[in-house]
Order: sequence, then C-alpha cells, then structure tokens
Amino acid sequence: MEGVIAALGHHHYERDYYYRVRAQSPDDLSLPERAARVIYLNKTCYNGLYRENRAGQFNVPFGRYTNPTICDEPNLRAVSATLRDVDIARRRFDTVLDYAKPGDFVYFDPPYVPLSATANFTSYDRAGFGPDDQRQLSHVFAELARRGVRAMLSNSDTPFVRELYAGFSVEQVFAARAVNSKANGRGKVAEVLVTNY
Ligand SMILES: C[S@@+](CC[C@H](N)C(=O)[O-])C[C@H]1O[C@@H](n2cnc3c(N)ncnc32)[C@H](O)[C@@H]1O
Repeated sequence: MEGVIAALGHHHYERDYYYRVRAQSPDDLSLPERAARVIYLNKTCYNGLYRENRAGQFNVPFGRYTNPTICDEPNLRAVSATLRDVDIARRRFDTVLDYAKPGDFVYFDPPYVPLSATANFTSYDRAGFGPDDQRQLSHVFAELARRGVRAMLSNSDTPFVRELYAGFSVEQVFAARAVNSKANGRGKVAEVLVTNY
C-alpha cells in the first residue's frame, strides 16, 4: 500500500499527462505502479467510467474536475487493512457453484440489463453480457438457493429481470448512480434487490 501511495504522488491532474498515462502498458509497470495508474485514471477520467476498446485498452477520455482527489491516503489505508486477509479472484460467475457451500453468502452485482433498447451499455470489457448471460446467472442463483446458499443480487428494475427472478423475493430500491454517459441517467435509478432467503 505504501508503494501505491508513493506512486500516486507522482500523478497529477493535467490533460496531456492523463493521455500519456492512459497510453502506458500495464505490463511495463511494477505492481504498485499499475494499481496507482488504475486509481489515477479512475479519479481523473470522464465520470469515473470504465470502458475498454476492442483491443482491451482503457479508452475513457479525460474528465473535467475541479481539483480531484487522486490520492485519498486514509481511505486507501483503511481499504488495505480491511482486505488484508481477503482473497480476490476474477472468475466467471458460474464458477461460484464449484465452491459455495451451505452457510455461505453470495452477492452478485452483474452488468445491468439496459433500461431501454437505446441504453445499450452492457459491456465493461470486450466480452459483453447479454440476455443469455443474464438467464444463465438466474439459473446459478436458483441453484444456490437449492443448495442452501444465501444469495443476493442487484440489477435494474426491468420486466425481463422481474421475469428471471419471479420465484424470489424482489425488492425495489433507488440507487444513486454517479456513472452514466447521459446526465439524466444519473441520480436515482430504480433497481431491484433479489434475495433467495
Ligand atoms: C455492475 S459491475 C460490478 C461492479 C462491482 N460490484 C464494483 O463495485 O466494482 C459488473 C461486473 O461484472 C463483471 N462481469 C462481466 N461478465 C462477467 C462474467 N461472465 N462473470 C463474472 N463477472 C463478469 C464485469 O467485469 C463488471 O466488473
């Protein structure tokens, strides 16, 4: 963590500098430098958005801010302490069936089902996440319930989502959304919180 904080100290909010950092290849950086680059880009890019091009490179433009906090030291230290004994793995969602056991708690925060046909931002990376993935996820959710694993899932409040989780407890919540390409999509958005318990 101290290495990440030190590396963040070298970053500054300036347009040309932002594009130079964005163009860097993570493979050429040490691990603390890589983490600092991600944090820097997240804090200074347009709306804090994460998006990749077809080649898998981060391609969000420079954002407008007045004096963005690039290095929030107390928060980074607190997060680091909290995650000290935590394993983080990057896997397909269905692999949870290989290790979840009764008594475990599983929370899914999948890519949202678009609210309308034009709001088709469903993809954080090259692979995308379409209706078939949403359907498969609902099967995984049901299988966890069958095995006695408590599961919770959030998604947008659409007829398709309500149809997929019709057999479960579905609660409507209003979530503040800071990340949206259209200003009127920010603010409070209707979501559902689905639980199998
Ligand atoms: C709404 S975001 C979750 C954000 C996360 N909860 C957070 O706070 O950063 C949806 C996530 O699902 C991931 N994802 C996409 N396809 C997936 C898949 N097949 N299996 C598991 N995760 C996937 C995306 O990479 C993205 O990070």
